[in-house]
Formats: sequence, C-alpha cells, structure tokens
Amino acid sequence: MTQLSASILAADFARLAEDCRRVLAAGADMLHFDVMDGHFVPNISFGAPVLKSLHAALPDAFYDVHLMISHPLQYAGDFAKAGADLITFHLESEDDPGEVIDAIHALGCKAGLSIKPGTPAGAVLSYLSRLDLVLVMSVEPGFGGQKFMPMALDKLAFLREACAERGLAPYLEVDGGVDAVTGPQCVSAGADLLVAGSFLFGAPSADEAARALKQA
Ligand code: DX5
Ligand code: ZN
Repeated sequence: MTQLSASILAADFARLAEDCRRVLAAGADMLHFDVMDGHFVPNISFGAPVLKSLHAALPDAFYDVHLMISHPLQYAGDFAKAGADLITFHLESEDDPGEVIDAIHALGCKAGLSIKPGTPAGAVLSYLSRLDLVLVMSVEPGFGGQKFMPMALDKLAFLREACAERGLAPYLEVDGGVDAVTGPQCVSAGADLLVAGSFLFGAPSADEAARALKQA
C-alpha cells in the first residue's frame, strides 16, 4: 500500500500537535517536517526546537524531516537529537552529498536525498545504494499549495527502473501538489511514499483525503 507523509507546513501552527494527531488518525503514516532557511529557498519555516516540542507531544509518530537548507551537514545533528527518524537533504545544497549521507547514518537516522525540478534524476544514481529514500520534488521547494509539475512522473519512472535494475528498494517519495488526481499518477509512475500538505490538512474530510491517496 502507498504510504502517506503529512506535510505540517499546511497545519495550523497554533494547534500543531492537535492538527498532526488529526491527520495521523485519518491514516497518514508519518509527519513530513519541512525545514527552510531563507537561503536555499526564499522562505523560512521552522527549526529543530519545534520538532523537539512536537516529538514530545507525539512521541510515537515517525518524523520525515525535509531539509531545504544550504548546510545540511551543520544542522543534521540538531534534527536527529530533536527526534527525526529520517533526514532528507538536497543534492543542490552546498555540502558533499556522500558526507551528508554518512553523517545522517552515523546519527542513527535514515537518509534521503532530494532533487529540485531542474535537476535530472540521473544525478542521484551514484548515491542510490547508500540511500533509504529518494525525494523527487514536483514543485520548486519553498512553498506549499503549488501546482504539481508533471515532469516529476518521468523522474519517478526512471528511478523506479534504476532501482529495479540494481536490486535496490529505497522509498521513492514525491513532494508538491499531490492530490487525488496527481497522487495516483505518481504511484503509477513508481512512487511509494506521497507527501501531502494542503490537500490533506485543507480537506473537508481528512479521512477521505488520506484514503484517496493511500489507495492510489
Ligand atoms: C514545498 C514543501 C512541501 C509542501 C507540500 O517546499 O517541501 O512539502 O509543504 O505542500 P503541498 O502538498 O501543499 O504542495
Ligand atoms: Zn517537503
């Protein structure tokens, strides 16, 4: 079954834990924690102290941390300590990807590598065997509520085949503009983990929204 990661960027920050509890009860498998530094992306979101508080309120949730920051090597430790289970960083960040992967694993977390819409999927191949997850961005990182870019589908299909050829099975996650129409398209193309923010938190029924994505 397809897994669902709820992007808390679309949550009500004044009732963060409550809103997260609601989407987890509706069927989300994990919480997607979008970190933005105002440098790698033109927006600022939240950092490790927020994760620490959320983790204290919901200790059993799985935390899928997406670092949209220029220096993941410098901050990965803070997020691991705050409760991250999986840390994904960007290939386009300023640090050496191999070094960041090793650092995340040394912190006891799973490691994911993400690519922006302009980066070809082939750029992750040399790291594939060391990764627990590859995240294909289907919008320019920085903001929730954007329109899905269909070129992500070709990247997912390319990566699904590349993994099969190599006998590897990292999660293939897709992030940005995922809804009841684009979610199933991503799953057909090869995704097994969907990130959803506005579609899930903004839905009249979170149960129905989660069901539509997980049955994709
Ligand atoms: C975008 C973030 C996404 C975003 C997704 O930079 O990485 O996780 O919150 O939001 P929706 O699902 O609303 O496109
Ligand atoms: Zn994200």
